[in-house]
Amino acid sequence: MDHAELTGQSGPPGIDRNLTRYGDTEFSRYMRRAFLSSAGYDGEDLDRPIIGIADTSSDYNTCHRDMPALVEGVKRGVAQAGGLALVFPTISLAETLLSPTSMLFRNLLAMDTEEMIRAQPMDGVVLLGGCDKTVPAQLMGAVSAGVPAISLVTGAMRTGSWQGERLGACTDCRRYWLRHRAGEFDRDEIGEIEQALCPTGGTCMVMGTASTMACLTATLGLMLPGGATPLSGSGDRLRQAVMTGRRIVELATGGEGPLKLLTRASFDNAATVLAALGGSTNAVIHLIAIARRAGIALTLEDIHEAARKTPVLVNCKPVGTGYMEDFHKAGGLPVLWKALEPRLDLNALNVDGRSLGAILKDTPPPATWQDTIGTLENPIGPPGALVVLRGTLAPDGALIKRAAAALDRQRHRGPAAVFESPDDVAARIDDPKLGLTPDHVLVMRNAGPVAMGMPEAGSLPIPAYLAKKGVVDMVRVSDARMSGTAYGTVVLHCCPEAAAGGPLALVRDGDVIELDVENRRLDLCVPAEELARRKAGHVPPRASGRGWRRLYAEHVLPAHLGADLDFL
Ligand code: FES
Repeated sequence: MDHAELTGQSGPPGIDRNLTRYGDTEFSRYMRRAFLSSAGYDGEDLDRPIIGIADTSSDYNTCHRDMPALVEGVKRGVAQAGGLALVFPTISLAETLLSPTSMLFRNLLAMDTEEMIRAQPMDGVVLLGGCDKTVPAQLMGAVSAGVPAISLVTGAMRTGSWQGERLGACTDCRRYWLRHRAGEFDRDEIGEIEQALCPTGGTCMVMGTASTMACLTATLGLMLPGGATPLSGSGDRLRQAVMTGRRIVELATGGEGPLKLLTRASFDNAATVLAALGGSTNAVIHLIAIARRAGIALTLEDIHEAARKTPVLVNCKPVGTGYMEDFHKAGGLPVLWKALEPRLDLNALNVDGRSLGAILKDTPPPATWQDTIGTLENPIGPPGALVVLRGTLAPDGALIKRAAAALDRQRHRGPAAVFESPDDVAARIDDPKLGLTPDHVLVMRNAGPVAMGMPEAGSLPIPAYLAKKGVVDMVRVSDARMSGTAYGTVVLHCCPEAAAGGPLALVRDGDVIELDVENRRLDLCVPAEELARRKAGHVPPRASGRGWRRLYAEHVLPAHLGADLDFL
């Protein structure tokens, strides 16, 4: 199969690519030019390389509030380099404004992006994203579309402050909310905090999923080397937009798509950087999904191995104390790459045309005046930030962010308290009649991809009556995800999920669950015969709903395989 068959692209480069089929090629060209002339384009414009700008601006997405300025920057760069930029919208996914979860729509944005690249005349594309799911979705779509592509993100927010304390979304959102639930802050105080957590446009300013995915995208080579960390709205960020615009025109005339950059080496590098960032657990699902689109079999074991060998080198919340602006001021991602140089494959290529080795020749090591980026000799935290668990409760794997979990809970045996869904948690978690103790293991099921698109509900709240006694962490186990900004002894992504017949569906209140992070075990301590008996009487729910939700539930792959749709 040649490139055109693979990608669905047809025709020559430029505005005549992917002609509308009227059964008369010359008529199709004539009609296209007639309509474009209504927007003021003439032959001088239309003979240039055509650069699409995938725009995910939306009033529903405050993380992308500064995106219009980036669009203008990219357009300027494209024009300077001799191209014609055409902006097109796709759906936008804002983490906090989508129900039940933005993850349900990641693959829909991936399809939207892929099909709009594939169907419209486009020699190259700039993918404007930022908020958590937008970046992996755009990469998945662009990889499948096969057109030269560069990702550009909005960048993180600046930090805010409350009563003299620096704070930001959303590790501090969670920390203060726990203290509010514990009775430490009243409604007025939490209202003031609410106003201070997100002071500017941009993505969450900790090492959450958005920041992690920005760093991994550049490590994969699909973003300019300095593009991951400049803050939203800053001059640095706007310059990235202009540089991206100039560079995509050069790439477009070469015609090489993302697959040239996405190699085993680039994914191994991304897994290493993920570990060094102490990055988001969500990135594990996204990396596996992007690799699958590129035909590379990245597994949970690869992620675990990279984390096992790589210490945490970045001091950002939730595993550290700093924020993205500190990381950027300390040199950002290229300086982290420099610190990791002996562990990275330097042959991996970047969209700027250089190998990682060539980029690092011009990059200084972490400076001594800063304490945000560590070195292999003097890291911020030990190796093993992410640990893949297996056992009778998760035969296909589960994940824990060890770097963000309480040390005294990582080996724990306790009775299960079972919740049937996130709504069941919301309804019952604070009911004192449940009689929960700090030793209980909070189990939530029916929150995996098939059940409801896998919401970020895995960091179950500590019951208010325990929080008021000073309990700040408990072992929690689910088939859900957790925000990259969250923390705690939280076991996520249990596979197979309950709705697909996984053992999580068989847990009953009072069953003993054993977690042993050091030995990578998560076990349901119930005899096999009893589990077989329960399984025989268990009826998994049938897919329901309509439209996208029905299609998703019937075709989504399990989390350990990336939660893409099986036909993509
Ligand atoms: Fe958009 Fe955190 S909510 S990046």
